[in-house]
Amino acid sequence: MRVAVIGAGPSGLAQLRAFQSAAAKGESIPEVVCFEKQDNWGGLWNYTWRTGLDEYGEPVHGSMYRYLWSNGPKEGLEFADYTFEEHFGKQIASYPPRAVLFDYIQGRLEKADVRKWIRFRTPVRWVEEDTATGKFNVTSHDLVNDTQQTEEFDYVVVANGHFSTPNVPHFEGFDSFSGRVMHAHDFRDALEFKDKDVLIIGTSYSAEDIGSQCWKYGCKSVTVSHRTAPMGYDWPDNWQEVPLLQKLDKDTAHFKDGSSKKVDVVILCTGYQHHFPFMSESLTLHTANRLASADLYKGVVFNGNPAVMYLGMQDQWYTFNMFDAQAWYARDVIMGKISVPDEAARAADVVARVAAEDAIEDDYGAIRYQGDYVKELIADTDYPTFDVDAANEAFFQWKKHKKENIMTFRDNGYKSAMTGSMAPKHHTKWSEALDDSLETYLKN
Ligand SMILES: Cc1cc2nc3c(=O)[nH]c(=O)nc-3n(C[C@H](O)[C@H](O)[C@H](O)COP(=O)(O)OP(=O)(O)OC[C@H]3O[C@@H](n4cnc5c(N)ncnc54)[C@H](O)[C@@H]3O)c2cc1C
Ligand SMILES: NC(=O)c1ccc[n+]([C@@H]2O[C@H](COP(=O)([O-])OP(=O)(O)OC[C@H]3O[C@@H](n4cnc5c(N)ncnc54)[C@H](OP(=O)(O)O)[C@@H]3O)[C@@H](O)[C@H]2O)c1
Repeated sequence: MRVAVIGAGPSGLAQLRAFQSAAAKGESIPEVVCFEKQDNWGGLWNYTWRTGLDEYGEPVHGSMYRYLWSNGPKEGLEFADYTFEEHFGKQIASYPPRAVLFDYIQGRLEKADVRKWIRFRTPVRWVEEDTATGKFNVTSHDLVNDTQQTEEFDYVVVANGHFSTPNVPHFEGFDSFSGRVMHAHDFRDALEFKDKDVLIIGTSYSAEDIGSQCWKYGCKSVTVSHRTAPMGYDWPDNWQEVPLLQKLDKDTAHFKDGSSKKVDVVILCTGYQHHFPFMSESLTLHTANRLASADLYKGVVFNGNPAVMYLGMQDQWYTFNMFDAQAWYARDVIMGKISVPDEAARAADVVARVAAEDAIEDDYGAIRYQGDYVKELIADTDYPTFDVDAANEAFFQWKKHKKENIMTFRDNGYKSAMTGSMAPKHHTKWSEALDDSLETYLKN
């Protein structure tokens, strides 16, 4: 049996680790081939300075930027089978910068010795079902040698992420604006906006964090324009929230309430699209960015063809350990340890998940909902059980600390749901920590 895994980000890597852990217990596992279009693993955590197209003409996957620190507590994403203490030899502070989390992700995979299963610089171009055999023809492109080949697989696991293809709305006056218009996907270094007046569109995590980066690294002002509602935090003095942008007139932005502001740059923090240009239509997932993804039984198995799995397609409070829960589940479906019900039952599962999500009243309910989902999946596999309620608690504390002070929440520490130990407070306040290298971060 052959399994194709598309993407070696945290989700695809979870799939490799899931199979390797079964092999380590003496089970016979299928041949696993992981296709990765970048030259290294880690997905979004594999930082690149590039934007637009890469050296092979491929769309750049990376949406991460320099100085990015985790926006949620690490206690919410910790792997149950590989703790931060195991990796770093000590407990570390709760909001690690990108390089620290990349190192952590990498450590588990090096220990599992699964790099040999990955074909780097090899994007998947097309996946279609051979209806005669029920198998899949997967066409991939070896970018280095510029050759394409089509191979047969029994299962396909799609793990290409969904925060890479930007959603880019148009506003009147963009074409004659005297400054720069860009999407968060192309944001790399806040120092570029030192002493500038920055206009941000959107109110979610990219808006909050890119605005905070620009503030931290010395921009002149931040103006955040909302479509639905302001974020409502107690922002610094040079930060304002305004209704939706109506138009730009050369260097001046006009908003729905009649106010205006001269700005140097517009950063569209307007989210991303689920984008599967390599999947034939009958195998393509169509979903919004929500907790109950459309068309995925148990949030994993594609209803239209249960030999196709999608990992990490939900909106995310939980990340790494939720991807693990999904990957272990997908593995056990593939290995025949879990049987998938008929199409009507699978569809009913999705309807129930959507209804339960629609009944959620607030962010605390959403965190519990996703925590319960993680519990549900890990109950069906041998992924190490962990105290999900304790992880929920770290998220609740995070929400509270953000409300107290949006510029200091990263100075707090939380208790690990895996080991029960408390994270130390970081040695330097986030707002003053301009060097966020791994070496500096670990000097606790
Ligand atoms: C700016 C930003 C900051 C974030 N910060 C946090 C955070 O602080 N904490 C947190 O927990 N989560 C954060 N996230 C959420 C993030 O989605 C997850 O942490 C995680 O990276 C998702 O893993 P993934 O493997 O599903 O997707 P990705 O990380 O996107 O990895 C997908 C992989 O698939 C590869 N790929 C894509 N198309 C193909 C193809 N056709 N063929 C072969 N390979 C392909 C890509 O090159 C990539 O390596 C952030 C997201 C963004 C955008
Ligand atoms: N430091 C970090 O760790 C960090 C930093 C950045 C991002 N991230 C992660 O990246 C992921 C994506 O976050 P995101 O903020 O980019 O996307 P997102 O959560 O999907 O939010 C999209 C935002 O864009 C707005 N929007 C969409 N279309 C619009 C339009 N036409 N006009 C005006 N506003 C529009 C939405 O407004 P409405 O509310 O009106 O729909 C929403 O505020 C998240 O998982 C997040 O955690 C993490």
